[in-house]
Amino acid sequence: MFRIVEARFLGPEIKLFRIEAPAIARRQKPGQFVIVRVHEAGERIPLTLADADPAAGTITLIVQGVGKTTRLLNRKESGDHVLDVVGPLGKPSEIALYGTAVVIGGGVGTAIAYPTARALKQAGNRVCVILGARSRAHVILEQEMREFSDELYVTTDDGSYGEKGLVTDVLRRLLESGRQVDYVLAVGPIPMMAAVAELTRPYGIKTVASVNPIMVDGTGMCGGCRVQVGRESKFACVDGPEFDAHLVNFRLLATRNTMYRDFEQRALAEFERTAAAAGAEEPHECRMLALEQALKGGGE
Ligand code: FAD
Ligand code: FES
Ligand code: MG
Repeated sequence: MFRIVEARFLGPEIKLFRIEAPAIARRQKPGQFVIVRVHEAGERIPLTLADADPAAGTITLIVQGVGKTTRLLNRKESGDHVLDVVGPLGKPSEIALYGTAVVIGGGVGTAIAYPTARALKQAGNRVCVILGARSRAHVILEQEMREFSDELYVTTDDGSYGEKGLVTDVLRRLLESGRQVDYVLAVGPIPMMAAVAELTRPYGIKTVASVNPIMVDGTGMCGGCRVQVGRESKFACVDGPEFDAHLVNFRLLATRNTMYRDFEQRALAEFERTAAAAGAEEPHECRMLALEQALKGGGE
C-alpha cells in the first residue's frame, strides 16, 4: 500500500497527489511514468512522474479524471492509500543542450512535459513553454513553468485566459517569424501532437512527442501499447513513451486508443451511479470503502 501525503485539486477533475514511494523517488528521471492500481480488483493505469522528492521519499502524480479509474483515484484524499505503484517505467527523456527548446503542453500533457522542460533548462537550453487548455480553470502548473522558462505563452480554447486559440497558433507564429528553434517537445491530445509534427516537419526541427497508448503491464509483455514509428513497431512502455514525432503514426494511435470506448463509457456510467449512491449516505472514509467494495470485479 502506498500512502497519499497530499491531495489537492489544481483544476476541474485535475488532482495533484504526493505519494510515499521512496524507491521510485530515488530512481526516477524526467519522462518516466508509473503504473498505478487503486484497489485489488482495479485496472492498471499509467501516470507520469510529474515530480519527485528523493529526500522526502515522495513522488508527485497529476491526474485528470477522464474515466472510471482516474475518477476513482481523484476521490482519494491525503491519508488514503493506493494499492500499487510500480516504476519508474519507460525511457527517460533525452536531455541535451539543443539550443532553443519549445515545450508544448496541452491539457494534462503539461504535467507530463513539466519535468522534462525543467531538465532541459538545467541542461542549459533556452526554454520556451506553450501551455494550452480548454479554459482558465484548466490551466495547470503555469507558475511552476514560469519559474524556469525564458518565455511562456498560454492559449485557451474559449479565450478566458491568455490568447484565444491553439498552442499551434503560437508555434506557427514563432516559426514564421524566423525564430531559431532547435527542439520541440509536444505532449497532449493526439491531434495536437500530430499538428505540431506537421508544423515543424518543413523546418526539419527535431520534434518529440510523448505518446499515450493504452498500457497494461508497462514492461513490454502484453503488446497493448504498440505504436508504429516509421517502419517499425515499438512498445511505448519500454521503447518510449517519447518518440520522433515526425515518424509516429498518430492516426493508428488514435484508432487503437478508441478500441475499448464502449466498455469504458459503460464502466464510467456505472461508477458515477455507484458513487452517487454511496456519496448520498456516508462520510468520506466509508464512502471510499463502499465505492471500492462496489467496484470490485469491475476492472475497466
Ligand atoms: P477510461 O474511460 O478507461 O479511458 C479513457 C481513455 O483513456 C481511453 O479511451 C484511452 O484512450 C485511455 N486509456 C484507458 N485505459 C488506459 C490505460 N490502461 N493506459 C493508457 N491509456 C488508457 N493521465 C493523467 O491524467 N496524468 C498523467 O500523468 C498521465 N500520464 C500518462 C503516461 C503515459 C505513458 C500514458 C500512456 C498515459 C498517461 N495518462 C496520464 C493517461 C491515463 O493513463 C489515462 O487517462 C487513464 O488510463 C484512463 O483511465 P480511466 O479508467 O480513468 O479512463
Ligand atoms: Fe504491455 Fe507496453 S504496456 S507491452
Ligand atoms: Mg479505464
